[in-house]
Amino acid sequence: MCGIVGYIGEKNSIPILVEGLKRLEYRGYDSAGIAVISNDSKKATSIKSLGKVSKLEDKVEQTEIDLSSIGIAHTRWATHGEPSEPNAHPHFNKNKTLYLVHNGIVENYSEIKAKLTKDGYEFESETDTEVLVQLIDSFIKKGNTLLKSVRLAISEVTGTYGIAVISQTEPDKIIVAKKGSPLVIGIGNGEHFIASDVNALIGHTSRCIYLEDGEIVEVTKDKFAAHTIDDEDIKKEVEEISVELDAISKGDYPHYMLKEIYEQVNSVRDSFRGRILMDEGTAKLGGIERIAERIANSKRIVLSACGTSWHAGLVGEYMLEQFTGIPVEVDYASEFRYRNPIVDRKDSMFFISQSGETADTLAAMKEAKRRDALILGLCNVVGSSIARESEAGVYVHAGPEIGVASTKAFTSQLVVFALISVLVGRKRHLSLIDGQEILHELESLPKKIEQILKLNNQIEAIAEKFVNAQNFLYLGRGYNFPVALEGALKMKEISYIHAEGYPAAEMKHGPIALIDENMPVVFIAPKDSVYDKVITNIEEVKARKGRIIAIASENDTEIDKLVDYSIKIPDTIRMLMPILSVIPLQLLAYHVAVKKGLNVDQPRNLAKSVTVE
Ligand code: F6R
Repeated sequence: MCGIVGYIGEKNSIPILVEGLKRLEYRGYDSAGIAVISNDSKKATSIKSLGKVSKLEDKVEQTEIDLSSIGIAHTRWATHGEPSEPNAHPHFNKNKTLYLVHNGIVENYSEIKAKLTKDGYEFESETDTEVLVQLIDSFIKKGNTLLKSVRLAISEVTGTYGIAVISQTEPDKIIVAKKGSPLVIGIGNGEHFIASDVNALIGHTSRCIYLEDGEIVEVTKDKFAAHTIDDEDIKKEVEEISVELDAISKGDYPHYMLKEIYEQVNSVRDSFRGRILMDEGTAKLGGIERIAERIANSKRIVLSACGTSWHAGLVGEYMLEQFTGIPVEVDYASEFRYRNPIVDRKDSMFFISQSGETADTLAAMKEAKRRDALILGLCNVVGSSIARESEAGVYVHAGPEIGVASTKAFTSQLVVFALISVLVGRKRHLSLIDGQEILHELESLPKKIEQILKLNNQIEAIAEKFVNAQNFLYLGRGYNFPVALEGALKMKEISYIHAEGYPAAEMKHGPIALIDENMPVVFIAPKDSVYDKVITNIEEVKARKGRIIAIASENDTEIDKLVDYSIKIPDTIRMLMPILSVIPLQLLAYHVAVKKGLNVDQPRNLAKSVTVE
């Protein structure tokens, strides 16, 4: 949440900062702002705007600003203080000589604010961040350098931060520091770029360093010097960025979400490409190869995540239990560390996260580390915090996901769980033939996804009928129960229609009371071992006049007699069905939201990576 960008070099910083913010806008879009220092006068200026980055861009275009080759910028997801211009970043000191952008939360801000107020400081905003800039100012006033002042200030802070700071007093540098919120520095020729993630660096440079917690870096145009918070020098390793510009552009699609839904033909393939050992009926996952035996001998596997990634974990639970015979539990990361979880070194824990930055998931991971479990990451974003802090892990290789609603990352997470199930299963009781069957079916998925995407027009027409719905119920059993949860989440987050997912059989224990002619019910009802039971549930809804949409098998003609609309998808084995059955639900939510005129890529109140608890 919140995106930070910085630039120092020879070029005009403003277009670079604004373009960088656009690429990070999925992290928050309540307000945006930039601060730059003029090359000639060495004076700092700032421009802020409420709302999206495009508003800031308009304002910047209408303002005369001196050429400046150093600046910082921010796009905000509000935590402390409503979205407003005074609360927008960059925040500054009284003389407007010192500017700071911040991603994270200063938890002890009231304490610091009280102390500063006693010393005569006044505050213009309701944010926790302003406290930090004023605290740095207080150390500069005592004669400290900018670097030392930032170091002293963050030593007093509890909470999380990724910050970038510029000052008129030292106009040739940006100071950045990280604890709990991501920061990366792109290395160019005679220039440096700062960003919350590598998306903002693509096209500028392919070399970067990732900051670790507790690091503070002084960045000038020609060099950077990294230190610990205790002022010890650190040598940073330069890493390569492999993402191309194409991967983060919308291309000809009207929305990133639609592009990403369509990309699943390839992203699913990319997730298993090079990882299938067909002759041995197993998978090759380099990231967990050396500890695969330890996972296979775990007493228990625990999967922890939030949101859509948690839904992927539920499908993973079914797969791993079926094919490895190891007990599996799925835990909301946000709940895990607020109990006294019974986890020890005989447990293997997977932390699932598209962004690899979700604060709750990171915090759960740290708690599990303290309890000696084997810590494994299952992330999409390469080099993300969860990926870096786990002992081992598997990248899902879905490619950059920019639409706020997760789509292709989910299906890729499921592919990776299928591969892990085969790998670990083969080390236990899974037969060669069964392993090979799963792998053959995996290889057949991209073609089947292509077939499902051809139903887009049919699904759009169905969506048209439900634009005014107030509620949706999604029901599925077995492997398709988590798909019901995911379908409901997609609908509510982008269309703002209340939707709930339930195990189909649970309907009669309560939700059935909601059913009348105004309640659309989406059944995920492929022909599998629980098909007959789901048909009974469909009958129960029909008897109460609910409007039924069914995701059904392509050869199922019987179901058409019972339901109002059926979307027919190809068959596959039970464990892989969620990878297919979720796609019509992604499209349904997408079309309902578009028809309601909503911004599907940036739904209200949401942000792509939730880096606050
Ligand atoms: C829903 C969605 C969120 C995320 C959740 C976890 O479409 O995107 O529910 O799944 O915030 O995010 P990651 O996977 O980045 O940890």
